[in-house]
Amino acid sequence: MIKKVKIIGAGSIGNHLSHASRQMGWDVDLCDIDSAALERTRNQIYPARYGAWDNAIRLFTSDNAPTEGYDLICIGTPPDVHIPLAVKALGENPKALLIEKPLCRPDLKQMAELAADAAKSKTQVFVGYDHAVGGASSYMIAELPDLGTLETLDVEFREYWGGIFAAHPWLSGPSETYLGYWRRGGGASGEHSHAIHLWQHFARSAGAGKVIEVSAELKYVRDGVVDYDAICALSLRTEEGMVGRVIQDVITRPTRKWARLQGQNGALEWFGNQKGNDDMVIRHRIGSDAETTWFHKTRPDDFVRELKHIQAQLQGSGISPMISPISLESGLDTMMVVAAAHRSATERRVVLIDYAKGYTEAALHS
Ligand SMILES: NC(=O)c1ccc[n+]([C@@H]2O[C@H](COP(=O)([O-])OP(=O)(O)OC[C@H]3O[C@@H](n4cnc5c(N)ncnc54)[C@H](O)[C@@H]3O)[C@@H](O)[C@H]2O)c1
Repeated sequence: MIKKVKIIGAGSIGNHLSHASRQMGWDVDLCDIDSAALERTRNQIYPARYGAWDNAIRLFTSDNAPTEGYDLICIGTPPDVHIPLAVKALGENPKALLIEKPLCRPDLKQMAELAADAAKSKTQVFVGYDHAVGGASSYMIAELPDLGTLETLDVEFREYWGGIFAAHPWLSGPSETYLGYWRRGGGASGEHSHAIHLWQHFARSAGAGKVIEVSAELKYVRDGVVDYDAICALSLRTEEGMVGRVIQDVITRPTRKWARLQGQNGALEWFGNQKGNDDMVIRHRIGSDAETTWFHKTRPDDFVRELKHIQAQLQGSGISPMISPISLESGLDTMMVVAAAHRSATERRVVLIDYAKGYTEAALHS
């Protein structure tokens, strides 16, 4: 059972995870390197989002934060510091560690280090791709057998990032944060990597295997300061030969978060945040009318559900008790595709992923 949580990073996600942990009845310590971020949490972000500050949440600057006795540690900092913080957190032996998405920079050296440390540890490690444990995607997985063999799969996360900056009024734009730098985990490839992750989750669940071929077309924005991909369009092939597409961008408005699974007997379509925060699934059966199912939820519900999933995994009663849709391996696999995408776009060729070589540079080849 989880009782005590440490959350590292008191920004947007740190507030969501603190609030969700309190909804679960857990004790929360929230830490940040920046004391201004802690002040902003107490005086602005948390009261504005959830009605009032919660005095039970203890705030610490990172140098004063306790380092033992936590059941769950969450890392909600920018992606370029996820791995060093995760490696340090594993040393504290929590029962579970949740690292926000994207897992890290598209830098394979960092990934191999984390994978090796996690393999030696008893801590269960998760990555914050919350859509994969949402009610709508869980429903899709339950309905998969009726589709017959999965023939193709498309996922799009196309969202103008003005909304992100609206939630961070203290930032003037992408140049002031990791978002403006793909090498730090920003750009469309990193920020909207929920799409790559969902594609991999659906493909794996349908028995199509892991992604082994990536062909990418990326549109980079470079002005002497920022260096990010505004559009990341991928063609993917899996171990079992299933072919499909992912598109992520930071341009499209209104937002489109969508997935379509086409099987031999019909299709399933997922619409993320279709109305407010509600998700929607449409089921198409050949010869029948389409059936629509809604999944009502608030934004805070997304994170409560994610934490419930982690708790259930620790108790061995999760959606899949052995393999979580948000396992560390799933996050590492997503980073392999992000890394392959940049390699493919830069070298203008198809990039193959050989997982037998580990989460290293040597795994990517032509
Ligand atoms: N799953 C989701 O839906 C979701 C939603 C929002 C953000 N995120 C992810 O969460 C991460 C953070 O995003 P955000 O919008 O909250 O960023 P943010 O800029 O609002 O907050 C990050 C905080 O981390 C702090 N920080 C930086 N380095 C630190 C360190 N070494 N130790 C402690 N604190 C440190 C910063 O001072 C800042 O307060 C990103 O990886 C982002 O993609 C995920």
